[in-house]
Amino acid sequence: MAQTSSITIRRLDGRLKKELRIRAAKHGRSMEDEVRTILRAAADIEQADAAAAIQRIAEPGGDVEPEAPPRRRAKELTVRPTRVLLIIGGGIAAYKSLDLIRRLQDGGMRVRAILTDAAQHFVTPLAAGALCGERAHTDLFDPQSEFDVGHIRLARDADLVVVAPATADLIARMAGGHADDLAAAALLATDRPILIAPAMNPRMWAAKATQRNLAQLVADGVRIVGPNSGAMAERGEAGIGRMAEPVEIVAAVAAMTHGAGPLAGKRVLVTSGPTSEPIDPVRVIANRSSGKQGHAIAAAAAAAGADVVLVSGPVNLPDPPSLSVVRVETAQQMLAAVEKALPVDVAIFAAAVADWRPRRVSESKIKKQPGGAPVLDLVENPDILSTIAHRSSDRPRLVIGFAAETDRVVANAKAKLAKKGCDWILANDVSPGTGIMGGDTNTVHLVTASGVESWPPQSKDDVARALVERIAAALEEAKQ
Ligand SMILES: Cc1cc2nc3c(=O)[nH]c(=O)nc-3n(C[C@H](O)[C@H](O)[C@H](O)COP(=O)(O)O)c2cc1C
Repeated sequence: MAQTSSITIRRLDGRLKKELRIRAAKHGRSMEDEVRTILRAAADIEQADAAAAIQRIAEPGGDVEPEAPPRRRAKELTVRPTRVLLIIGGGIAAYKSLDLIRRLQDGGMRVRAILTDAAQHFVTPLAAGALCGERAHTDLFDPQSEFDVGHIRLARDADLVVVAPATADLIARMAGGHADDLAAAALLATDRPILIAPAMNPRMWAAKATQRNLAQLVADGVRIVGPNSGAMAERGEAGIGRMAEPVEIVAAVAAMTHGAGPLAGKRVLVTSGPTSEPIDPVRVIANRSSGKQGHAIAAAAAAAGADVVLVSGPVNLPDPPSLSVVRVETAQQMLAAVEKALPVDVAIFAAAVADWRPRRVSESKIKKQPGGAPVLDLVENPDILSTIAHRSSDRPRLVIGFAAETDRVVANAKAKLAKKGCDWILANDVSPGTGIMGGDTNTVHLVTASGVESWPPQSKDDVARALVERIAAALEEAKQ
């Protein structure tokens, strides 16, 4: 470490060396000890690199006290953020936050906005709400909001909280643990990672109080992006204090996300929806699968950090965020797309693949014939689940099938597990009375070699999350 310190000192330019000497003298340390303290603080708070930390701390007025050891490391994301709570503070840069909403959405995130009272002098809740697709929140004592969302739920129903612009005042209130408005209360109530994008006049930024508050926030695990240096909104003013550009804030969110989640580094394949087997140019053999369960599983796997390929038959659903979608029509196309996606760690076959297809597809529309209805000559489609489960090369570590049954659900699923050679089967009763086909809820039984687990009725999203948790646990167990 002593060697690292002296190398770092040798590389510093004259101004920084002088700042360091003054700083070391002030704290009664040698220059090496001072660098060591700064490096330790920089490593702990995971700021970019030690030299940058020294540079920042040595900025005039930027005398962040390093000897107070960080009490908490920056909070890590455990899932890829798909729900962002954006808190807009009262600064000129608030107008850029409207662009930020769009850019976060482009990255597949759902954004909810809180505007402080001061922010509403710069942008309107109407504009923020219109962009978010739901009303923006402004008032801690709003009875409607407290009834349906509430400040605690606003804080908790997010994967990440972004404060942009973070005003000097809001930074001070965060550092002091205030909860005197909706923004401050949500920030105090959240246990999610927080990213702030400060924006203020350079003198406000350099003020000892602001730097003290920032040091406190860094010690509390808050991440900071920017501010940048440049011209201020006030004529003739320039310096450090411009809010980071929306693209930089999105990049900071992405950097926080990298490698997050229990399935980070894993590649997961999911099939979803029905297949559609053509009879002639206008008629098909289809089924009632909506794709809701398969799509929910793909989204949950992506949210858990997996690199997901979703092979989907024709569905009326939007593509889930942050994954690749391959669209197919027929079972043969689905098998080809699945094989192309290999190798994967986990394959989940939730698509309702047609068992049969017409042997020949008529090139022109089949006309009504006086002799009566035509007879459809069917051939069997490839069994995608069994084909992949029986592969000798590139077999996924975990192959999971679905069994859509209308009677003897568990018994049929057990038989299917043995016959198809897969590792797990999720069996569900798709009889018309259950409302499962096309509905939003599901009741499944997880059938594995070690037994049957019946899960309670729950939303398809919850089934997806529970399945992803089980998969992550199984992969972790297999490692040990
Ligand atoms: C025109 C104008 C621009 C302002 N710009 C900023 C700014 O960029 N950054 C800042 O910290 N405060 C700025 N302020 C002061 C804040 O609006 C004020 O401190 C307010 O109390 C912040 O409230 P909030 O943190 O709840 O949003 C500005 C005030 C005015 C009148």
